[in-house]
Amino acid sequence: MSEQQLFKVTIDNITVEVAPGTTVLEAARMIGGDVTPPAMCFYSKLKGSGGKCRTCLVEVSKGSEKDPRPMPKLMASCRTAVMDGMEVKNITSDRVKDARAGVVEFLLINHPLDCPICDQAGECHLQDLGYEHGKEGTRYEFNRRTFEKHDLGPYIQLHMTRCILCYRCVYVADQLTENRGHGILDRGDHAQIATYIEKALTSDFIGNVIDVCPVGALTDKTFRFKNRVWFTKPVDAHRDCDKCCGEVQLWMRGEEVLRVTARKDQWGEVKESSKGGTGWICNECRFEKKKTADWVVEGPSMVNRHSVISQGHYLGMQQPHETIAKVMGRAPRLLMDIHEVSEVNDPSVDLSAIEGPATGATFKKEKSKS
Ligand code: SF4
Ligand code: FES
Repeated sequence: MSEQQLFKVTIDNITVEVAPGTTVLEAARMIGGDVTPPAMCFYSKLKGSGGKCRTCLVEVSKGSEKDPRPMPKLMASCRTAVMDGMEVKNITSDRVKDARAGVVEFLLINHPLDCPICDQAGECHLQDLGYEHGKEGTRYEFNRRTFEKHDLGPYIQLHMTRCILCYRCVYVADQLTENRGHGILDRGDHAQIATYIEKALTSDFIGNVIDVCPVGALTDKTFRFKNRVWFTKPVDAHRDCDKCCGEVQLWMRGEEVLRVTARKDQWGEVKESSKGGTGWICNECRFEKKKTADWVVEGPSMVNRHSVISQGHYLGMQQPHETIAKVMGRAPRLLMDIHEVSEVNDPSVDLSAIEGPATGATFKKEKSKS
């Protein structure tokens, strides 16, 4: 058999070789780090996902070796296949950064800024994007969308106002459960997640909609308002389950299991299970097994050091992959040491030797002594 020809694609000055048919987003994920565009609707484990949210926009500055013309519009990287010799800009393009900030602002037009009371806070991709693009405020002056309350049963809480219509939960219901009981009803600004005739979502694997929802539209009723995720300790655990892989993450406070979720990878997607296939978990593991005795605890989960969940955790921290030196073609230079131009927070003051917290007076006192 002849060896498959690989395509060369350069993203933000870093070149990788990928198989034909790979999307720009998947190629960027192979490089990793900041080069990878954010994705709010694409989910590599769900067939047909992507192409809805436009957060993954990139600039294709060279179409391919054969046709080097740039693509005139920004492209959704999750739906654009690589061509041989393609050159793509993500964090090196001001057009992309501007457009993405616009997309985030649009997503936030109807999304309430209720992070202080939202269970997804601390692990919400829209919250991260909002802050990354300076969109934590709003210029919108009109009334936001509101919806009739819709009860999805004992397990899943729907907050439709937070939904960004990414369709991931619909694909989960389609691809993991036998009967899809919910979907997106109506069109335009009336579009909403609903079951039409009010009905509980209880099929065996439906709890996975909570894990795939990128915002706080679908959350776990059994964990609601119990704790903030950054106060809990995530540990990897497993049990013998005849329905699913039984490999989960327990979110604990002391000895109490507050929440059970599937394990996630660095892109926030459900990880592969050690038994093969995606590690989706069943409703029984997720909602019914809330005692430590139900589980064999393996140890602390790896938490990305940049995540708020890592605060106060000293075990299982994961150093994020750094690509910035490669993108720039050189190591970043230290541009300025503040202490060369300012006397603020004099580094010669030994903070461990003072009593209580440091204030401006601490530094003034030290200076007058010298
Ligand atoms: S409820 Fe969540 S997963 Fe479902 S479409 Fe809305 S944002 Fe996406
Ligand atoms: S992730 Fe590509 S359009 Fe949503």
